[in-house]
Amino acid sequence: MKTLIIGGSGLISTAITRQLVDRGEDLILYNRGRTPLRVDGDIAVVRGDRTDATRFEEQLAALGPLDCVIDMVCFDPAEAASAWPHGEDSSQRSKVEEGNGRLI
Ligand SMILES: NC(=O)c1ccc[n+]([C@@H]2O[C@H](COP(=O)([O-])OP(=O)(O)OC[C@H]3O[C@@H](n4cnc5c(N)ncnc54)[C@H](OP(=O)(O)O)[C@@H]3O)[C@@H](O)[C@H]2O)c1
Repeated sequence: MKTLIIGGSGLISTAITRQLVDRGEDLILYNRGRTPLRVDGDIAVVRGDRTDATRFEEQLAALGPLDCVIDMVCFDPAEAASAWPHGEDSSQRSKVEEGNGRLI
């Protein structure tokens, strides 16, 4: 499963990152690089700031299809919509807004 964690190096999200790495999942982290990553392994990291929504959405779109997005720094509905879907698929966007998407 191709999973994106927005964050992934924080206090709680480090444990999620570690578990997914141990399971051999296809994992990508998205963060600013300010917080040191405390998990060993060959982990793909995309550097960016999710508060720059335009750039953030471009960066996520470039990742291609994702099976799951775990958003650890989401504080309002606009940020949730920005994180999923990555792209202009309005049908997926509405599924998330209905609570049926895999945005965690
Ligand atoms: N720890 C607690 O006791 C507690 C209690 C209640 C709720 N929470 C919430 O639970 C969540 C826990 O997640 P966590 O453990 O990952 O939190 P965290 O320890 O605050 O770490 C934040 C993570 O998100 C990244 N990040 C922060 N701002 C970003 C931005 N603007 N753009 C891109 N990445 C950004 C950080 O990396 P960089 O710094 O490198 O960008 C880091 O990986 C947080 O939302 C927290 O507010 C925590």
